[in-house]
Amino acid sequence: MLRRPRGSDAIAIRRVVAETDVLDLNSTYAYLLLATDFADTTVVAETDGRVTGVITGYVPPQRPDVLFVWQVAVAPAAQGRGIAGAMLDHLVRRVVGDRGGRPLTVEATVAPDNAPSRAFFASFARRHGVPISEQPHFTAAQLDPDLTHADEPLLRIGPIVTPTAI
Ligand SMILES: CC(C)(COP(=O)(O)OP(=O)(O)OC[C@H]1O[C@@H](n2cnc3c(N)ncnc32)[C@H](O)[C@@H]1OP(=O)(O)O)[C@@H](O)C(=O)NCCC(=O)NCCS
Repeated sequence: MLRRPRGSDAIAIRRVVAETDVLDLNSTYAYLLLATDFADTTVVAETDGRVTGVITGYVPPQRPDVLFVWQVAVAPAAQGRGIAGAMLDHLVRRVVGDRGGRPLTVEATVAPDNAPSRAFFASFARRHGVPISEQPHFTAAQLDPDLTHADEPLLRIGPIVTPTAI
């Protein structure tokens, strides 16, 4: 089942992100904000009453035509079954519907060496027949003074015009 998160999901969301072992792990408080104030732009997947996936996102105040996707995580045991793709489709359909059908562009930053993430967004773009572009965005220097973090260029996917086609 795919649904909006609730405050009571914050700990489980954090667990799923931790289980991936590759994403930056944020505080429970951060996930609580996302599960409450940003619930309209966040989605969880639930399997047998347990949270198995999450996409956190928000609409940047300066770019109201954008859904910025922050973290995409599926618990290792649930990967490879289409959960992440279904979550993003569900989230985009919901946000486009909430906005009265106005076109939406999905943005996400992806480290150059994160092949699964790139494949995931490329697959989303193909599925919806929209272009995907890449431009410089967050830099290693902004993310870590020791420069151990890679640059995070921005992927832009869209605009997605017709929610019924999703
Ligand atoms: C990346 C991740 C979210 C994918 O979740 P998932 O539920 O297994 O993904 P799906 O089954 O919905 O796959 C969706 C698409 O992404 C592609 N994909 C997913 N994982 C992939 C991988 N490890 N390598 C290459 N492609 C991958 C799939 O091939 C699929 O494309 P297709 O339908 O055109 O074949 C999951 O592996 C994960 O949580 N990884 C660790 C966290 C991470 O890297 N997050 C950033 C992702 S944006």
